[in-house]
Amino acid sequence: MSDSNSDSNSELSFFTKHEFAIRRLHSLTGIVPLGLYMCVHLTTNASLLGSVEIFQRAVFLIHSPGPLLPLIEWGGIFLPLLFHAGLGIWIAKTGRSNSSQYQFTSNKRYSWQRWTGFIALVYLFLHVMHLHGGIHAEGWMNAIYKVGFGRFSPYNAGSSLVDAMNLGYGIIWPAIYLVGVLACVYHFVNGLWTAGITWGLWISPKAQARATKVCVALGLVLTVISLAAWAGAVFPGKEDVAEMRAIEDRMYDAGVVAGTVPENEHKRDLRGRAAAAEESGDAADGEQASAGTAEPAS
Ligand code: HEM
Ligand code: HEM
Repeated sequence: MSDSNSDSNSELSFFTKHEFAIRRLHSLTGIVPLGLYMCVHLTTNASLLGSVEIFQRAVFLIHSPGPLLPLIEWGGIFLPLLFHAGLGIWIAKTGRSNSSQYQFTSNKRYSWQRWTGFIALVYLFLHVMHLHGGIHAEGWMNAIYKVGFGRFSPYNAGSSLVDAMNLGYGIIWPAIYLVGVLACVYHFVNGLWTAGITWGLWISPKAQARATKVCVALGLVLTVISLAAWAGAVFPGKEDVAEMRAIEDRMYDAGVVAGTVPENEHKRDLRGRAAAAEESGDAADGEQASAGTAEPAS
């Protein structure tokens, strides 16, 4: 008992000693890179509602760093996310909210900030496993594919995304995404408002009222964008996937010939087309694109 007391005392004293820097680092990671990434990410995904081609062009561009991509993803997204989430949970658990210090901060909004943080944590874990897979090692990707994870193939971007959403009777994943995405948008926009307090940008009631208007407007815009991203992934049915895949294959072949897309069969949806061929009884096609031997995208 006394051990655990002294543990939590030393944890608290470390936090107290470095509170200024830790809070700013937590706040900063929530805005850049995470908030900025989310805005760009949702807009890119919303482009699928426009056309398969626009979305595929954007994904070709995102994947153009090739072998450097995992470094960018881990350094720019996953590590800041783990840091922000870990510290966020610790702050929420130990009740070290900064809201009580600021008489104008609403307690209700602050508790929503915490709840949406927890929802974001669960959602982002499921989302990254569902599409990205986390680590692009062949054995790992083959194993998780069998249980419905690691489903996104960057060179068949739209069709593999729609296919992934159709798993689980086309209801479970869309429902998880709807709740998760809206929670992330609230968390970010309300977080921007509280960040203005962390950084001393809006302290007077007048300045806070102005900031509220700006954050609500941004929240509405992001909600529309996120619903567009959701609809782009959820509205096309199973029957649209083959047509989307044909367009993406044409773009891949043309890109390889033109030298604008590096040849990489592992980034194509080999497993998805093997499953489709199997379903339609096309054994030759199925053999050619055997699921068991397909390697993951890197
Ligand atoms: C992955 C799970 C996440 C958890 C568990 C989490 C948790 C939290 C918590 C508890 C707070 C309030 C901390 C406080 O000031 O007392 C917070 C603040 C914040 N979060 Fe998150 N968060 C997560 C993800 C995200 C994401 C993805 C973004 C951006 C899209 C984000 C952006 C922010 C911002 C901007 C703040 C406000 C910082 C401030 O008041 O200075 N968070 N987060
Ligand atoms: C309907 C909404 C969304 C859709 C359709 C969507 C789609 C995708 C897709 C297709 C990927 C795989 C990208 C790749 O491997 O190249 C991905 C990855 C990822 N998404 Fe989302 N996403 C959505 C919402 C969000 C939200 C709200 C966040 C919060 C920040 C988020 C964070 C991530 C992260 C961290 C990754 C892994 C890193 C990466 O691959 O670049 N997503 N998402």
